[in-house]
Amino acid sequence: MARLVVVSNRVAVPSRDGGSRAGGLAVAIRPVLRRHPGIWFGWSGRVAAAADVTVRTIQHGHQSYVLTDLAEEDYQEYYNGYANRVLWPILHYRLDLAEFSRRDLSGYMRVNQRFATELNKVLQPDDIVWVHDYHLLPLAKALRDGGHRNRIGFFHHIPFPPPEILTALPNHEHLIPAMIHYDLIGFQTEIDAANFARYLRRECGMPSRDPYTFQAADRTVRIGIFPVGVETAQLNRLARRAVHSPFVRDVVESLAGRVMIIGVDRLDYSKGIALRMEAFDRFLSTHPEWRGKVTYLQITPKSRSEIREYADMERQIDETAGRINGRYGEASWTPIRYVNRAHSRTALVGLYRSARAALVTPLRDGMNLVAKEYVAAQDAEDPGVLILSRFAGAAVECEAALLVNPYDPESVGSALEQALSMPLEERRSRHDALFQVLKTNDIESWGERFLIALTRPVNLPNWLGQTDLSTV
Ligand code: F6P
Repeated sequence: MARLVVVSNRVAVPSRDGGSRAGGLAVAIRPVLRRHPGIWFGWSGRVAAAADVTVRTIQHGHQSYVLTDLAEEDYQEYYNGYANRVLWPILHYRLDLAEFSRRDLSGYMRVNQRFATELNKVLQPDDIVWVHDYHLLPLAKALRDGGHRNRIGFFHHIPFPPPEILTALPNHEHLIPAMIHYDLIGFQTEIDAANFARYLRRECGMPSRDPYTFQAADRTVRIGIFPVGVETAQLNRLARRAVHSPFVRDVVESLAGRVMIIGVDRLDYSKGIALRMEAFDRFLSTHPEWRGKVTYLQITPKSRSEIREYADMERQIDETAGRINGRYGEASWTPIRYVNRAHSRTALVGLYRSARAALVTPLRDGMNLVAKEYVAAQDAEDPGVLILSRFAGAAVECEAALLVNPYDPESVGSALEQALSMPLEERRSRHDALFQVLKTNDIESWGERFLIALTRPVNLPNWLGQTDLSTV
């Protein structure tokens, strides 16, 4: 295959401590680049004064990381502003939280243009370009305007709402149609793909050859469904070792024989953390027999704290956890352990394997890799139970989980009771079904499917997961 150039806002440069950020994108891209070394281009994570913005290249084996700083103004308007105060809430169906400003939009367009200008310096004509995430919706157009005819694919990691919601976005008619400059646009689920296709048909009147193949003036634009997977087998092996680490042993010992429920999420309103705690409250109030016997560990690294909605939510979750601990806690038992510290991947999988149930109850989520990682980390002989929101993309593949409505604390509370008293046989058979799905669609096959579809332009079937790849 020609050289691969991956572009995303965040870039995960390997670090010596192997520390990982919460957030699926970095985890998903690394294994792809291991198979197809090339360039990973994006933000360095550094915010600098405009005059000090630099671009630097870090070489790791055959892999180059080209990193650009963001000027303070760009960081505010592009990242905090348009990407995270406008697109993030709207794409998560939260019109009530969107704060549109024309200035942020122009900052967003400016940074996309800057990314294109920097890419222009390294791109070769036969490079395959794979762009990720909502920060870069108009990047292909900026590259095409600069004369690039490369094959350019885009993967949308988060939800894509129906046109009825998306059209509330001021200027959507300029931004969203710019996406047709990509050759292939990938989504996590059929719902997201169908929403985008409906937008193109309804708002742009674009002619289509079939439900997912559209004809632009000079190119065919294809839409595909590529649910992101995890490193299923590797995570299982890692978890087997991780339970023996001093850290995980300490945590388990500190439970003093109680069962553990785990939740791991970046601090974000889309994750439904406060409602999840309410569900735990409901569970303890309706099932007093479990008081003192179960500990709920919620690991929630802070993110985007400069944005008001995030700061408000942080306070709300702190208060909810405090209230529940005050109501039910005893000198020797804290019902909720709420931790804002980020943990290494090894520590997390060890904790997943030690937890009897995972609460993964986002209000809306593109996929949710925590759900999949939890399943991958389990001991098949004595597995824990996944309680999963029906509004997470992962619910499509994880039918064998206990699927819940995260807006209904009562149903989540009953699912908790069901999970904690589930017989071993049922836990095993549910886990086996989930594990098989995650082994078939692991992270490597996800990357390969996307790249095959991008580099070999053929008609894509509606659901790639069910396709014999030899025919693609
Ligand atoms: O895919 C969702 C995403 O925005 C990723 O881009 C990112 O890795 C993750 O969430 C964390 O968000 P942020 O980069 O804003 O900290």
